[in-house]
Amino acid sequence: MSVTAPKPRTEDQRPRMIVDRATLHYQTKSGPLHALDNVSLEVRDGEFLCIIGPSGCGKTTLLWAMAGLIRLNGGQISLDGTPITRPNPHIAMIFQDANLLPWRTVEKNIQLPFELKRKAMDKPRINKLLERVGLAGFNEKYPRELSGGMQQRASIVRSLAVDPDILLMDEPFGALDAFTRDEMNLLVQEIWMETGKTIAFVTHSIPEAIFLADRIVVMSARPGRIAAVVDVDLPRPRKVEIQTQPEFIARVMDIKVRIDHQRGARADHSMIG
Ligand SMILES: Nc1ncnc2c1ncn2[C@@H]1O[C@H](COP(=O)(O)OP(=O)(O)OP(=O)(O)O)[C@@H](O)[C@H]1O
Ligand SMILES: [Mg+2]
Repeated sequence: MSVTAPKPRTEDQRPRMIVDRATLHYQTKSGPLHALDNVSLEVRDGEFLCIIGPSGCGKTTLLWAMAGLIRLNGGQISLDGTPITRPNPHIAMIFQDANLLPWRTVEKNIQLPFELKRKAMDKPRINKLLERVGLAGFNEKYPRELSGGMQQRASIVRSLAVDPDILLMDEPFGALDAFTRDEMNLLVQEIWMETGKTIAFVTHSIPEAIFLADRIVVMSARPGRIAAVVDVDLPRPRKVEIQTQPEFIARVMDIKVRIDHQRGARADHSMIG
């Protein structure tokens, strides 16, 4: 597989997933907690959408709702016109922790979704994907034998193996060191360009969002609302060094200002790094 030329990205791309006025309250011991408030957005076919916002603003809640893992109190989420009310085989989720089962090997972890669906695993395809993420020959290793970055690579393979239409990623590289994170972001960009998958990716980091995204959805502090949607028109494939360029830094500052200007928002310097 090789990196292909970037696809033209236009507003004409068909919306695949539509989040329409999503509202969610958690029931807690001290009463209802308002997590999402009238959140509306669309994830367009083949786009890389990043969702950014301060800690606790409801990003994970939104992604879980998009995956059909949590029910809304109001509004609706649909994929290609079908309401999402339960987990959907066309939607895969990658979590902050790789979530590999420690008692299963890499290959047995990747096999799990196939077992749950009682489908045969396409072993040559899995091996190709493992090779693609730099884990060729690691089939029989246990998660404890892998570094954090390698575990996330394995979880990416597990998600891609079932060939989903949409990949939802919840701060998948938040726990990794800066170098590994850069490497993983390059890998995700390459895989996305090769496969044409539609990706919604949650992050705390403004530079990570600008590096990866076609569009960035900026959420306000809780209850989560959409504060802004920003296009990122930097050419692809983007290289790590782009992060030192003035046009990149200008975009970081633009989003930082938008976040700081929100009602009730506090300056959150952790989002710059
Ligand atoms: N299962 C739950 N029960 C009750 N409250 C919850 C639950 N899950 C999350 N919350 C609350 O909902 C709000 C939004 O949480 P969420 O995890 O979606 O935020 P987040 O934006 O993903 O934060 P972070 O960036 O720290 O991961 C927070 O106030 C959190 O405490
Ligand atoms: Mg979260």
